[in-house]
Amino acid sequence: MAMIMRASCVCASGSVSLHFSALSSSLLPLARSLSTLSVKACSKRNIQFTTRPFLPCRPLQRSSFCRASFSTLGLTAPAESLLPQIEISASEIEAPDWKGDILAVGVSSADLEKDENGSFKNATLKKLDEVLHGILSSVIAEEDFTGKVGKSTFIRIPFSGFKRIGLVGVDISQPLKFSKWKQFGGSIADIVKTAQAGSVAVTLANMECEAGLLQSMSNAIAAGITLGVHEDSRFKTERKEPTLRKLDFLGFGNGSELEGSLLVTQKICEGIILTRELVNAPPNVLTPDALANEALTLGSNFKDVLTVQILDEEKCRELKMGAYLGVAAASTTNPPKFIHIQYKPPNEIKSKLAIVGKGLTFDSGGYNLKAGAGSMIELMKFDMGGAGATLGAAKAIAAIRPSGVEVHFVIAACENMISGTGMRPGDILTASNGKTIEVNNTDAEGRLTLADALVYSCKQGVDKIVDLATLTGACIIALGNDIAGMFTPSDGLAKELTDACEKAGEKLWRMPMEEGYWEMMKSEIADMVNTGGRPGGSITAALFLKQFVDENVQWAHLDIAGPVWSEKKKSSTGFAVGTLVEWVLMHSS
Ligand code: BES
Ligand code: MN
Ligand code: ZN
Repeated sequence: MAMIMRASCVCASGSVSLHFSALSSSLLPLARSLSTLSVKACSKRNIQFTTRPFLPCRPLQRSSFCRASFSTLGLTAPAESLLPQIEISASEIEAPDWKGDILAVGVSSADLEKDENGSFKNATLKKLDEVLHGILSSVIAEEDFTGKVGKSTFIRIPFSGFKRIGLVGVDISQPLKFSKWKQFGGSIADIVKTAQAGSVAVTLANMECEAGLLQSMSNAIAAGITLGVHEDSRFKTERKEPTLRKLDFLGFGNGSELEGSLLVTQKICEGIILTRELVNAPPNVLTPDALANEALTLGSNFKDVLTVQILDEEKCRELKMGAYLGVAAASTTNPPKFIHIQYKPPNEIKSKLAIVGKGLTFDSGGYNLKAGAGSMIELMKFDMGGAGATLGAAKAIAAIRPSGVEVHFVIAACENMISGTGMRPGDILTASNGKTIEVNNTDAEGRLTLADALVYSCKQGVDKIVDLATLTGACIIALGNDIAGMFTPSDGLAKELTDACEKAGEKLWRMPMEEGYWEMMKSEIADMVNTGGRPGGSITAALFLKQFVDENVQWAHLDIAGPVWSEKKKSSTGFAVGTLVEWVLMHSS
C-alpha cells in the first residue's frame, strides 16, 4: 500500500484521540534482476532503484499497482485507496450535550418501556425525549421501532446541538460477543454513509456494564464503523471520499487502557482494509509481482521491525520447490514470486511463529479447467485470500509492535494458468522435502504451492505455523460461506485459534484430521496423489498439507474458501486478519 495510515495518540484530559493520516510511501524498485532481494533497516544500498518510465505516480498511489499500469493487460491503473481517517475519542459527555452530525444511541427493546405517565423508564431516552420535545417518542411509535437487532431509524433534528439522532437496535444481553458489537457498528456506519456525516457519537441507552466489557464493546463498535465506512472505489471513475472524520464514544469510560486498545483496533482495521483491497484487486493488476511489491512496500514502511525477502523462480529452483514451480510453470508472463517477511521486535524473543498464506493471484484450474456454471472461475482472483490476510496481519503486527514474538509471513505467490509450458494432469512433481506427488488434478494447485511454503517455514525454526488458504470448494459445502474450517493435530493450537477468533469476532470450526482417509491419497507411482476425490475433500487436502510439516512443529490449517468473500456485498471480507493478530498477541510477552 503506498498509503499508510499513521495513528498517533493525543491524550488530553482523559480522552484518547486517534488520528489517521495518509502518507505516501517511497516507490519500490523492480526486483526482476535480482534473484533475492532484501530490504532491511536502511539497507537501501543493496537495492537497485529503477525509475519508472512515463508518468510519475501520484503521491498517494499504491506503488506496485501504480507501477503495473503500463504493462498491465487492459491498461488498468487503480486510483489511490481512500482510507478512513477517523479521529476517535472517548469521553464522559452526556448524550444530550454532544455536538456534531449524528448521535447514535444503542437501544434494546427493554429500554423502550414506558412508565405510567407515558415517558421512558430509561433515563437516557427520557432525557433525550425531553430535550427533543417528544420527537423520539412519536417517531418510535410511528415507525414501530422495537429495538430489534439490525433495525435502526434516524431523524433530522432542526434545533439541537446534534443534527441527527439515530436509534440502533442492540442486544445488550451479549456484551461479550465481539461480532454482535461489530455488526452494531456496521449499522451505525450505514447511517453515517446515508447522511454523509462528518462526525458521530456512540452511546447506549443502558450502559450498566463492567468497565472491561465496555472497553471491548467500544473496540468492536469502532471496528464495525471503521470497516463499514470503507468503500473500495479504486477501479471506479466516480469516487466517493469517506466523510467520517470524528468518532466519539460517550459513557464507555476513558483512560490509557481504553486509549491503547482503541489504537490497536485501528491498526487491525488498517490491516483488514489492506487485505480487502488486495483480494478485491483484479488478477490482471494484482499479479504475483504486484503482491511481492506490496510486501516490499510494507518492509519499507516498517523498516525497524520488518525484513522482506522476495525469492524469484531461479532461487526457488535452487531450493528445490518443485511442487510450487509446477503450478507456476504455465504462466510465462507473470512468473512466481516467493515472499518472506520477517517481523522481529528488539529484545528477547520467546516464541517464533509462522503465518503462511495461499497466494494464487488467479486460479483457472489449469488443464483441469474450471468450466461450467458454479465453477466460480470469474471469482478466482480471491484465491490469494490467504496471502491477503497474511499481508494484512503483517501490516497490523508491524504497526502494533508486540514484544517477545518473532513472526514469519510466507507466501508462495503464482498463477494457475494453461499453456504449453504448464504442468499436465499425470505429471509427477518433487517437493522441497523430497516427496513426490502425482498430479491427478491440476485444479488442486493450492496444496502444491503450500507444500513448499510449509517446508520453507519449518526451516525457519518456528514453534508454530498457521496456514490460511482458499483451498477447497468442499469446505464451503461443509461449513457454508461464513465459517472457516480449522484442521490441526494439536489440541493446544486449536484452543489458541478458537480463543483468538472469538476475540476477533470471526468464525472457525474444527474439522477432523481423519488419518484413515489418507488411503484416498495413495499413488501407485509416486508418494501421493494431489486429490482424493469428492468425499471429505477438505480433509484429504489437510492431510496432504500435513505431509510437508515437521513433526515437532505445531501446525494448523485454516480453509477460508467460504468466508474470504461476501456474496452479498460482492466484495472481499478481510477474513482472518483479526484472528491472526489476536493469535500473535497471545504469544507476546
Ligand atoms: N481455489 C480452489 C478452491 C475454491 C473453489 C475456493 C471454489 C473457493 C471457491 C482450489 O484451488 C480448487 O480448485 N480446489 C478444488 C480441489 C479439487 C480439484 C480436489 C475444488 O475444491 O474443487
Ligand atoms: Mn484450483
Ligand atoms: Zn485454488
